[in-house]
Amino acid sequence: MSLFENTAHLAPVWARYTDVVVERAEGAYLYGTDGSRYLDFTCGIGVTNTGHCHPRVVEAIREQAGLLLHGQVNIVYHKPMLELVAALRRIVPSALDMFFFSNSGAEAVEASVKLARQVTGRPDVIAFVGGFHGRTYGAMALTSSKGKYREGSAPLPSGIHFAPYATCSSCRFKTSATECCGEPLRQLRHMLNTQTNGASVAAMIVEPVLGEGGYIPAPASFLQGLRAMCDEIGALLIVDEVQSGFGRTGRWWGHDHAGITPDIMVMAKGIASGMPLSGLAARREIMSQWQPGTHGGTYGGNALSCAAAVATIAAMQEEGMVENAARQGQNLMNALCGLKQRQPIISDVRGAGLMVGVELTNADGSPAAAATKKAIAACRERGLLLLTCGTYDNVVRFIPPLIVNDEQVIEAVSIFAESLGA
Ligand SMILES: Cc1ncc(COP(=O)(O)O)c(C=O)c1O
Repeated sequence: MSLFENTAHLAPVWARYTDVVVERAEGAYLYGTDGSRYLDFTCGIGVTNTGHCHPRVVEAIREQAGLLLHGQVNIVYHKPMLELVAALRRIVPSALDMFFFSNSGAEAVEASVKLARQVTGRPDVIAFVGGFHGRTYGAMALTSSKGKYREGSAPLPSGIHFAPYATCSSCRFKTSATECCGEPLRQLRHMLNTQTNGASVAAMIVEPVLGEGGYIPAPASFLQGLRAMCDEIGALLIVDEVQSGFGRTGRWWGHDHAGITPDIMVMAKGIASGMPLSGLAARREIMSQWQPGTHGGTYGGNALSCAAAVATIAAMQEEGMVENAARQGQNLMNALCGLKQRQPIISDVRGAGLMVGVELTNADGSPAAAATKKAIAACRERGLLLLTCGTYDNVVRFIPPLIVNDEQVIEAVSIFAESLGA
C-alpha cells in the first residue's frame, strides 16, 4: 500500500487545496516526496513568517526538547514562558503588560471574550461582518466570513451582534475617494440603540485587516472610531491579530497602522513559526481581575512552543523581517497593480505589507470564483502555492514569508500572470 492511500482515512472536513505530500521545507520553499519544489506563498495560512524551519527556531526547539517538553503552567513556571513574556513586552504596546497563553487562534479568541465578559460583567459582544475568528463554538459564533463555517452547527452561543466592517473597496455608500465615508460607524451606533445598548456591551472584536473575509485592510478612521466608541460606552476593544500580527502587515501589529491601542490583543499563527501557540496581551487593570481557575488549559504556553516563539521574535528583530515585509509588500503590491492594468479580470489589489489580496471579478460584475480556483491550480502546476479567501472565494491571497526576496516576489507574480493568462 502506498503512503498516499492513507489519505483516504483522513476526515473530509479538512477542505483541501492540494494533494502535495510534503517531505521537508526550508525558507520560502516546500519540497514534495516526489522531488517537487514549491515556492510557498501560503506560509501554512500565515504561520511560518520566519520562513520554513528557520535555523534559529529549529535549534531553540532542539535545545528545549532536551531540557523540558511540558512544564504545566498551573504547576510550575518554566523558563521559555518567562523569556517569552520579556520578548513580547518589547514588541507589544507598552500598555498591554499582562499575558495569557493557549494553543490556537480560536482558543485565544474564546479566552478574550471570557475575559471581557467576566471583567465588565456585561453580556454582549459586537463582531463585524466578514470577520473570521475560528471554528470552536464561541469563535464560530463571532465568525461571519462565510456561512459554511456555521453550517449544521447551530445552536450557537448568544449575545453576539454583527455590525458592518469598513470594506471600502466594495463600499456601497462611498462618499469619499480617499477616506472611509463613516457609514459603518453610523450603522454601529444605530445598532447600539436597537439590537443592544452601550451598557450591555462587554467588547467589540475586530481584525485590523479582514483575513479570511477577503484581505481588506480597515481604514484607520474605522479602527479609531471603534476605539472612541468603546471608550464612550465602557466596552473593551479586542483586536484579533491572529493573521495580521507578527510583522505580517509591515508593522509589528496590524492596528499600529491606525495608531490605536486595544484593551486586549489576540495573537497566534506567526508567534512561534509553526509550533502551536497563541495568547492574549491585555492591560493590567483588565487581566489582573481574571479570577484564578475560571479559564486555562493543560497545554497552554507549552515549553517547546514558547522557546520557538522567543527564537522567532529574536530572528525577526535581528534580520529586520518587519522592515522586509514593508519593503517586499510594496514590491508585491506594485507588481500586482501593474498586472491589474493588463488583466481585466482583476477588479482590485489591496492589502498591507505581505498580506495582499487580488480580487477576480467576471465581466458582469459577479465574483469569479471558478476562475480563481483555476488560477491557483495553474500556479501550483507551475510551482507556486497560493490560497484563496473572501466570502465568495474570488480573492487570491499572497502571504509569503517575511524573508521573501526580490527575485521570489518577481517569480511569484510572473507565475500568477502566466496562470491567469492560461
Ligand atoms: C483572524 C483570525 N482569528 C482567529 C483564527 C483562528 O485561528 P486557529 O485556526 O489557530 O484556531 C484565524 C485563523 O485563520 C484568523 O485568521
